[in-house]
Amino acid sequence: MKILVTGGAGFIGSNFVYYLLEKHPEDEIVVLDLLTYAGNLKTLQPVLDKIKFVKEDICDREAIFKLFSEENFDVVVNFAAESHVDRSIEDPGVFLKTNILGTQVLMDASRKYGVKRYHQVSTDEVYGDLPLDRPDLLFKETTPLHTSSPYSASKASADLLVLAYYRTFKLPITISRCSNNYGPFQFPEKLIPLMIARALDDKTLPVYGEGLNVRDWLHVKDHCSAIDLIIRNGKVGEVYNIGGNNERANIEVVKTILKALDKSESLINYVKDRPGHDQRYAIDASYISKTLGWKPEYNFETGIMQTINWYLDNKSWWEEIVSGEYKNYYDKMYSGR
Ligand code: NAD
Ligand code: DAU
Repeated sequence: MKILVTGGAGFIGSNFVYYLLEKHPEDEIVVLDLLTYAGNLKTLQPVLDKIKFVKEDICDREAIFKLFSEENFDVVVNFAAESHVDRSIEDPGVFLKTNILGTQVLMDASRKYGVKRYHQVSTDEVYGDLPLDRPDLLFKETTPLHTSSPYSASKASADLLVLAYYRTFKLPITISRCSNNYGPFQFPEKLIPLMIARALDDKTLPVYGEGLNVRDWLHVKDHCSAIDLIIRNGKVGEVYNIGGNNERANIEVVKTILKALDKSESLINYVKDRPGHDQRYAIDASYISKTLGWKPEYNFETGIMQTINWYLDNKSWWEEIVSGEYKNYYDKMYSGR
């Protein structure tokens, strides 16, 4: 099978490439990535001889059509996106362009060149949020879309477009909507790697509001195994929720990291809340479990310790990032908080 992995130099896409190489060494993999601030070719360095890498923008229709005409892909898995909520609040434009129009270009090329499966990697954020005082409520695939941030609105728009291409053009699509991922190679602007990197440097840890917002954490490898099952055995036209059943308040996560690193809780700094901050995400993943037999391998306690150890063992990967252009981003984004 020949698979195009877009956004394969980012966090989840690169983990997916490693997952495929291990689980399906017979597959041919082409990675397409624009290498924005979030993409890092160093992540794929050890396997560049086993895959083909193309630096390209998913919004560039001409380049994408040319690639599809040359490669004859069986499957497209679209991870390419602008993915950070805080950045979408600062500058929504690029989120609409990449996440919506880029998706359209990939689907148009998939239609024209007869791709057998187009898989859209979406997010639980398309469902909006759940109240903190109703632990009985979970997102199901049938939960109405109800977004909060420019990021989640762009992802929900893309989902609707993907479903429209299925209904109108019979494009063989699937969609997955996953909860918060953690694990190796996550860019240190997201909660877990940001807190690990800053705690290691004895810097303050910026916790939004009172730190009571809840996220449902899933190890990235479990996300990859779910997507792999969907592209091989999933039903065309379906949406699959993926989640870890590991709900944690942000402050609990931060305290777990501090304890594991033997750092003081006095590093915690409660800062101004994120505008429109979603309260709680929680996924009902029973449909993918029942229909495709998926179940997560990691629990949060062991997964987070492995992740902390990965960041300790791979300082050169993230130290370069936090000392470069990203430092200016951090100073700008957090100075008013
Ligand atoms: P990321 O920001 O780490 O990686 C995104 C990748 O896309 C980067 O390598 C970047 O260079 C590339 N990219 C951006 N714009 C591009 C363009 N125009 N053309 C080609 N490549 C481009 O993101 P991530 O956390 O790995 O998320 C991957 C996907 O999974 C996203 O679609 C995101 O919405 C979704 N998702 C993420 C999570 C999570 O917790 N991180 C959870 C559920 C769903
Ligand atoms: O649920 C899936 C989504 O998870 C994905 O679609 C997004 O791409 C991904 O970025 C993630 O979104 P979140 O907004 O939940 O992740 P983030 O790591 O930015 O924040 C997690 C929680 O931690 C959130 O409640 C905000 C809070 N937070 C975050 C940062 C960066 C802080 O308290 N301080 C911070 O500095």
